[in-house]
Amino acid sequence: MTDKNAPPRSAVPSLILIAAIVVALVAVFAYTAGWLSPQRLTPAKIVGSLAPPGGAVPGFRRNHAKGICFTGDFESNGSGAMLSKAKMFAPGTYPVTGRFNLATPDPKASDATARVRGLSLRIVMPDGSEWRSAMIDAPFFPVATPQAFYELQRALASKDDPESMQKFSAAHPEIAAFGAWAGSAPWTVSYAEERYNSLNSFIFTNAEGQDQTVRWSFIPAAGPDNVSADELKKRGANFLDADITQRVRSGPQRWAMVVTVANPGDPTADPSKAWPEDRRTVEVGTLVVKAIEPEPDGPCRDLNFDPTVLPSGMHVSDDPFPAARSAAYSVSFNRRTAEDKYYPHTPAQGARP
Ligand code: HEM
Repeated sequence: MTDKNAPPRSAVPSLILIAAIVVALVAVFAYTAGWLSPQRLTPAKIVGSLAPPGGAVPGFRRNHAKGICFTGDFESNGSGAMLSKAKMFAPGTYPVTGRFNLATPDPKASDATARVRGLSLRIVMPDGSEWRSAMIDAPFFPVATPQAFYELQRALASKDDPESMQKFSAAHPEIAAFGAWAGSAPWTVSYAEERYNSLNSFIFTNAEGQDQTVRWSFIPAAGPDNVSADELKKRGANFLDADITQRVRSGPQRWAMVVTVANPGDPTADPSKAWPEDRRTVEVGTLVVKAIEPEPDGPCRDLNFDPTVLPSGMHVSDDPFPAARSAAYSVSFNRRTAEDKYYPHTPAQGARP
């Protein structure tokens, strides 16, 4: 029973509580958005820094925007099981969806202008677990940390400071090795002739519970047919797509997956540093690319090749890149899928110049 003579309960404490909850929520959002710490590197900032001078191209990946889909298999030879209990290392054949791509935010870039080529993979295991990986053909990354990657984009884009790159190089001397590679490494005529490297380090755990820090590479069966950069320019803007389509039509293209195991003390947290050549390697299987598919409305377009999507038996290491990449790829994925109306859905509508 209510006491009719009791003084009416004040609404003030409830209102104060509601106000406190609202303030706390705003603070959490503000922190997450980086408003409280403008210096903090957020995924949105790092993605924004990748935009070309004319702005990001709506509907497309914010980096590695030009690419072509494929399907095929991963044929595991069983040797990977000594390193990881991931199901894809049990002997067998596992379906792959992938993407050959170029490191450019411009989906219409001419193939001869992109120094770095990429390979993205999703391997699905019988229990539904997945392994996703996005690799490049450079032997090491240009910079040592995600923060330095952001600063590099800013230095490259700087219009006000003609010495921005000189200053960046002085602060990040590791970029000299990448510059030397980019300036001297031979250009190949085909995605099929490239070796693709994880560069980032991960931890593999085997059935006995032993952890090993590893990197991996996909080594092409096709021999390199090196040409000069000038020769490549004569081949047309989309020669890589035409070449890989033709090659796969005439027969499956193969890469050996080789896992390299770190020695104690190797620089596992820094993808700008290659490990010494004599490290233990294990060939664990073969990627077989069986069909090239167009990217517009193809099976890879709406995939996010997030390098932290790993099956049981693999996890991230002390390398800070995979987490930073995962956050950035998610921003890029959310933006491009929300911009679907700008995406040319079939080649006939002009996905290719
Ligand atoms: C902090 C460093 C990095 C940032 C901010 C970054 C950013 C991005 C973004 C925004 C995308 C587009 C993702 C999408 O829309 O699905 C992308 C794609 C890609 N990145 Fe990175 N990336 C970084 C490091 C790396 C590294 C270390 C590698 C290789 C070892 C790499 C290889 C690739 C490849 C191959 C793709 C194409 C993936 C696909 O086909 O969807 N990236 N990157």
